[in-house]
Amino acid sequence: MSIRTRVTLAMLIAGAMFSTACQPQVSVSRSGANLQEGLPLEPAAESLVPVRPSAIEGSKVFVKAQCIICHGKEGFGDGPSAANLTAEQKTLLHDLLGLIGIRLAPTQLPSRPANFHNAVAMRLNSPFSMYETVTRGRPHTGMPSFPRPKDYPRKGMPAGRPSYGARLFGVYLTDEERWHVIFHEFSFATTQAEVARGKQLYETKAIPVDVRGVRGTYTCADCHGTKGDGRGPRGVELSRSLWGWARGEGPGIFTDINLMAQRKSTELFQPIVDGGRVMPSYRGKLTEDEIWALVNYIWTFVYEYPWPK
Ligand code: HEC
Ligand code: HEC
Repeated sequence: MSIRTRVTLAMLIAGAMFSTACQPQVSVSRSGANLQEGLPLEPAAESLVPVRPSAIEGSKVFVKAQCIICHGKEGFGDGPSAANLTAEQKTLLHDLLGLIGIRLAPTQLPSRPANFHNAVAMRLNSPFSMYETVTRGRPHTGMPSFPRPKDYPRKGMPAGRPSYGARLFGVYLTDEERWHVIFHEFSFATTQAEVARGKQLYETKAIPVDVRGVRGTYTCADCHGTKGDGRGPRGVELSRSLWGWARGEGPGIFTDINLMAQRKSTELFQPIVDGGRVMPSYRGKLTEDEIWALVNYIWTFVYEYPWPK
């Protein structure tokens, strides 16, 4: 190595050390100190859902807003209009023939109204995604939008006029009505018998668990509470180390509507199979049917469902 190379190397190393020393640093210790001084916790999240959703109220909205003409009285997607969802076409040919008074038959839309008994589809729906669908409709399908009165009519979209497939139906829903009707649709995806089975498993099936120091034979309710609020006897203990549980919010707190509104049933199923940080894994301890019954029971902590408990 020539002297010049060595000098260059030495300068490079010195430069690198200098620039490291000048890096801005995030003081980890300072944030720790703040925690110990007892910074106030962030305020509780504002509720996305303005009302406790009720499938019973929702069944009235389902009729009043005419959801039944497409989705059918029982939500099977077989209402009187279901087979005849068409869209006006706007092509040169249609326009020319229109000039001499000939109207071509509108084309059939490609989709059918959703069947809310279809478990596979419903397990992948979150209440919030359904809320979006009801509010905005689905362009290019027969699913109309049911906007809030204050959002519509918009310029160029007078109520009742077709716009692509999703027609503005001219029916307005309040936020409350939208949440009610969504949970009415949710209730089609389960049955009274399944919910009863889920409740029984949740409250009485004691299973040995051993996860991160939590050892014993517990029911779901022992941790999650009979009301789903995380206030079972073990849950109260857990809330000393779990922030969310201490605040009555977050994963495992089934009464937290903000969290649950964005959950899909599959996202409740999976943690029961796999477990979590504290949540035990029930793989091989519960059958698939039992887990779906538990999931459908867990939903009933969020909404008023149509059957007696
Ligand atoms: C004019 C017929 C029609 C009416 C009225 C109608 N829907 Fe629909 N709806 C559809 C169609 C068609 C689809 C399927 C859209 C697609 O293929 O993506 C659908 C889909 C949906 C979905 C999505 C379901 C899923 O699994 O993705 C929801 C939620 C829904 N409708 C709720 C409602 C509610 C609530 C009402 C009444 C307030 C209503 N619909 C009224 C035709 C209708
Ligand atoms: C030992 C206490 C304990 C028991 C017993 C328990 N859980 Fe949990 N569970 C938790 C905790 C704590 C969480 C939050 C995630 C974590 O920290 O693991 C959780 C999370 C969950 C979640 C995920 C929630 C979400 O939104 O992400 C579901 C679903 C769940 N539990 C269902 C059940 C069911 C059903 C049973 C009974 C078969 C059960 N749990 C038994 C403690 C428990």
